Amino acid sequence: MVKKNQTLGEFIIENQQAFPYSSGELSRLIRSLRLAAKVVNHEVNKAGLVDILGLHGDTNIQGEDQQKLDVYANETFIQTLINREIVCGIASEENDDFITISGKNNDNKNKYVVLMDPLDGSSNIDVNVSVGTIFSIYRRVTPIGTPVTKEDFLQPGNQQVAAGYIIYGTSTMLVYTTGCGVNGFTLNPALGSWYLSHPDMKFPENGSIYSMNEGNYVHFPEGVKKYIKYCQEEKEDRPYTSRYIGSMVSDIHRNMIKGGIFIYPKSSKANNGKLRLLYECNPMAFIVEQAGGKATDGFNRIMDIQPKELHERAPFFCGSKNMVNKAEEFMRKYS
Ligand code: AHG
Ligand code: MN
Ligand code: MN
Ligand code: MN
Repeated sequence: MVKKNQTLGEFIIENQQAFPYSSGELSRLIRSLRLAAKVVNHEVNKAGLVDILGLHGDTNIQGEDQQKLDVYANETFIQTLINREIVCGIASEENDDFITISGKNNDNKNKYVVLMDPLDGSSNIDVNVSVGTIFSIYRRVTPIGTPVTKEDFLQPGNQQVAAGYIIYGTSTMLVYTTGCGVNGFTLNPALGSWYLSHPDMKFPENGSIYSMNEGNYVHFPEGVKKYIKYCQEEKEDRPYTSRYIGSMVSDIHRNMIKGGIFIYPKSSKANNGKLRLLYECNPMAFIVEQAGGKATDGFNRIMDIQPKELHERAPFFCGSKNMVNKAEEFMRKYS
């Protein structure tokens, strides 16, 4: 019988049964994230009414001015994971170094680490435009029972066990993958429950939207400049439509539903672009690939990059498979 109005809780239980030998730890972890997401969502929604907008006053390790909501979201996700003692370590865009969680008995018994961008699209907070949260989950590589080390976090994206994002948009959605496709859940704010609204999401193979910050055009590599001109050319199904929100989660979410490409390339000002490999590119790449799309740095698969630093950046090309292939063609030829 076709199930209607299935909640995230029901979905998790059903899918956990598909892995009879799993301990349920990952399911509990996803449940913790969904709780933190609801708390952050509540805060985002009343942002115009209380003193939560604007600058926090500090600068983060990325050299960015932190917004109050960056700090609030960071603390909420971290605190929720600490309270539930569900992971052994957390790394975040907003923290200089990773956090070790050893548990109340100091036994470091948990096996997962979480890496996250607690609030994606900070520049859109004050103007009431969609923002998001991104998370990425790995199994630790060092032995259980010992404190986590940097090695546990510096794993290539192809080792991710799960990844997801929350989009605080016109409605709030949680979209995630555990490596068996991508499913999207919409929050019913009156009930506080997430309902499966977008089962088995698929990235269209072709699309007609290109998303990039064209204001940086003069600094872009030749291949990207030529690709932009290609998108604007009047030929076949072109010109494409340009859409750029400036919140990666929202830009990629839209493209995944409608078909499109998102590019944040390297530039003459930033050799690896802006987006963080561990907190932004890898989790989005995992989701995009699981939905049938493609994610590269313009030449190579994002998820095969061996990270060297927690906060390292990478150029990011992701979206509809045929569009990414075309952009890569331009990169190979001109850059
Ligand atoms: P964050 O708010 O987590 O620092 O990420 C911002 C990112 C991303 O969401 C977006 O795609 C990009 O920065 C926008 O950057 P530009 O303003 O340079 O286009
Ligand atoms: Mn930031
Ligand atoms: Mn971000
Ligand atoms: Mn952020």
